This record gives sequence, C-alpha cells and structure tokens, in this order.
Amino acid sequence: AIREGIVTLDMATNKLWSGRFNSDTNAEVEAFTASQFFDRRLAEQDIRASSAHARMLHHCKLLTKKECDSIIEGLKIILEEIQTDHFRWSNEHEDVHMNVEARLIELIGDAGKKLHTARSRNDQIATDLRLYVRNAIDQINSEIATLESVLIDIAEQEANTIMPGLTHLQNAQPITLGHHLMAWVEMLDRDYCRFKDCVKRVNVSPLGSGALAGTGFAIDRKMTATELGFTEISRNSLDSVADRDFIIELQSFAAILSVHLSRICEDLSLWASQPFGFIDIGDAFCTGSSIMPQKKNPDVAELVRGKTARVIGNLTAILVLMKGQALTYNRDNQEDKEPLFDTIDTLLSCLRILSRMMPEIVFHRERMRGAATQGHTTATDLADYLVLKGLPFRDAHTVVGRAVAAAEKNETRLSDFPLSTLRDFCDRVEEDVFEVLTVDGSVNLRTHIGGTAPSQVRHQIQQARDRLKERQ
Ligand code: ARG
Repeated sequence: AIREGIVTLDMATNKLWSGRFNSDTNAEVEAFTASQFFDRRLAEQDIRASSAHARMLHHCKLLTKKECDSIIEGLKIILEEIQTDHFRWSNEHEDVHMNVEARLIELIGDAGKKLHTARSRNDQIATDLRLYVRNAIDQINSEIATLESVLIDIAEQEANTIMPGLTHLQNAQPITLGHHLMAWVEMLDRDYCRFKDCVKRVNVSPLGSGALAGTGFAIDRKMTATELGFTEISRNSLDSVADRDFIIELQSFAAILSVHLSRICEDLSLWASQPFGFIDIGDAFCTGSSIMPQKKNPDVAELVRGKTARVIGNLTAILVLMKGQALTYNRDNQEDKEPLFDTIDTLLSCLRILSRMMPEIVFHRERMRGAATQGHTTATDLADYLVLKGLPFRDAHTVVGRAVAAAEKNETRLSDFPLSTLRDFCDRVEEDVFEVLTVDGSVNLRTHIGGTAPSQVRHQIQQARDRLKERQ
C-alpha cells in the first residue's frame, strides 16, 4: 500500500490507524468502542482546535500556506455539514476526531493527512473537553445569575412578609420571607463563585502534549493556546492527557448546586402542601392526577429534587472512573463524556425552569403570618427581654420554659396571657413585654448584619444586586 511514498487508506480497512492491522475490526468491537454518537457534541470545539493547530503547524513550517488554507477551508465545510445535519457519521471512524479527519481527507486529499502531525487524539480530546467545559460553565453561571436575580426581586416584594422559620421542621422563630429567599440567593452565589474559580483550572491548554510525551516537532504551544483563548499552557504532558480533575471539579460543584436546588424545591413542595398552604404554584408549572380530579401537584419542584440524584450519580461515576487508572491516558476516559453532558443538560434545564416558575408563585401572606404565631415562636424574645431586665440567660430560659408549658396547658399563646400572669413567672416583666411577644416585634429587633429584619433584608438585597452588576 505504499506507492511512491504516499500511503493510501485502502489497506486492511479504511481506518486511520489500520497500518499495523491485518484484519478488519470485529463488528461488535467497532460498535463497542465507538463514541461518535455522543462525542459528536464536541465537533465545534474539535474543529476550532484543529484550525488553530493547522495555523500553528504552518507558522512552524510544518505545513505550507496552501496546505494550511486548504485544511481550514475543509474544516469550515465540515462544520457546516455537521451543523446542517448533512454529515455522515460512522462507527467505522470511531470518534468525533477521526470522523472529522476522515472527511477532511475525503474532501481535500493529501493536505488533510498532514493535520495530525505533532498531535494525538489524547491531547486533542483533552483540548476539546476543556473548551467545552469552559463554555458550559459560562452558560451555567449565566443561568445561576438569572435565578438569583429573579429571587432577589421576589425577596424585595416579600421583605416584610412574616413567616415561621423552622428548625427540625418545627416552628422556631418568626422570620421574613425575604430573608428566606435571600438565603437561597446566598447558596446560589457560592455556587456561582465555585464555578468561576474552577474556570481558572479548566482554561489551560493541553494541546501539544501529544499522546503523552510531547512531540519531537518544534511546535509553538503558546500560539494555539492564545488562539483558543486559553490563559495558560499545561506544564506537564503526562498530566495533560491523563487527568480529568477539571471534570471532577465541575461534577462536584454541579452536585453541590443540585443539592441546593433540591433543598429549594423541598421548601417549595412543603409550602405548597395543604397543611402549610403558604404558596400557590402557577397552574402552568403543576400537573394533575390521572385519578384524583382535585389534585394539582408541584411536579417541577419534585423533578428538580429528583434530578439531583443523577447529578450526584454522575459525580460518583467520574470519581470511580479515574481512581484505578495508571498514568497516563487510558480508554476508560471515553466514559467521562456522557455523564458530563448529562450533568450540564440537567443543570441548565433545572435552572431555567426554576427561573420561570418562581415569578408564578403566589405567596399567601396572611396564612404565613398566622403560622408564625403558632408554636410560641417568640419565646426566645421573652427570654432575651428578661436578660435585658437583669436575669441571667439560663434562668430566663427556665422561666420562659415554664410559661410556655402553662400556655400549652391552657391552649393559649404567650402574647395572650395577661400581664399579671406573665408577672407570676417573673416579676421583672413589665407592660413593654408585649412589644417583643409579637412576631413583628421579634423580627424588627434583628437588624444586625445577617438578621431577618426587613431593613436588613433590604440591605442584603442591595449588596446582592451590586454583586450581580459587578459580574456583568
Ligand atoms: N475517544 C477517546 C476519548 O474519548 C479519545 C481518543 C483517544 N483514543 C485513543 N485510543 N488513544 O477519550
């Protein structure tokens, strides 16, 4: 098959690596090892990286101008074929890289056979993935910022709305709904920062690392890195092709974000239930029951909670995938992609649907306020009041505990006790006690940084808005 120094592709098979093989690949093996049906998602990144590689090869005198132009032209045509669904993908060419390269050779001939000079699929896939993940993180972060901004707007409307704050799922102390919503914003804000930080380690160019040991050609790695928008080039070729810790990071941070979304959705599901009755989720975001005509279920919230399971599963998958691999590259790594794509798709759809659903929620303010007055939620305020009147806190706690027990016995509230009864528990109680026994009084006292008072919630809102603005 070698004629006048030109290798043709008509040996045992059409495969680009078939030189040392004497027989065709077993059909089942071909199907088993193929990844084109999922890694074709990386085609755009693959073609961008190949174009940069070709320009660099030309710059380093490893390709003529004509060859380089022809490669770039050919790659453009291929990208268009792929984008318009006219590309013929085949398992015979295994993955996205070889499908593109084979088509390039078909289109432009011998120049196409030179593209893989000074490169391996091992540094190629690492490069494609880093470009893909970098872009995915930008998308995820943009959706996080949108959801934050939606929540901030609602928090502003509900800065004065009183509701019960829960610990152990029991009424604990009165809080404002705006404060609760801003807690969600804080959680999402940290997710945003984690992803942002992760980009620093993703945005490093592995291109030029070759199969593992680098290349003997005098290449210019900085040139390809700059063209592809990488801020650094990797320092060790073995590490560059072997590690997928940037995917582990994405999957970890995705799992944390998912857990946050799940908890938000658990709150919403509880609030939408009849015993709570705090919210009504818009009809367009609920579904009915096939048997019970009265049902309106918060399925979106439940599914976001449910999808957290697969995101956590995907993190487990990549961790287990890496743990047993001797350095450097092993084919195991091909299995990193489907969970990665699944996590990205899942997160984007969850974030988008929540941003649309939140403004459709109606908050039943009176019901929330009513619930906040149940369960002696201002008992701590009474104890604090007694401390200000000179009682040590531990004694105040005991006194109020007795008052609560008496209120329970009489099926009444602390604030409904007459002054004389309250004075029976502690003679330091005076007329002004009723100011702290109301839910408004309790909430309005908490004006320190991070407190639940409406004024403080507005302060949090202002700060959050400033942060979002800085990010634009
Ligand atoms: N498809 C492979 C992957 O997803 C990339 C190709 C490297 N294959 C190889 N035999 N060295 O990781």
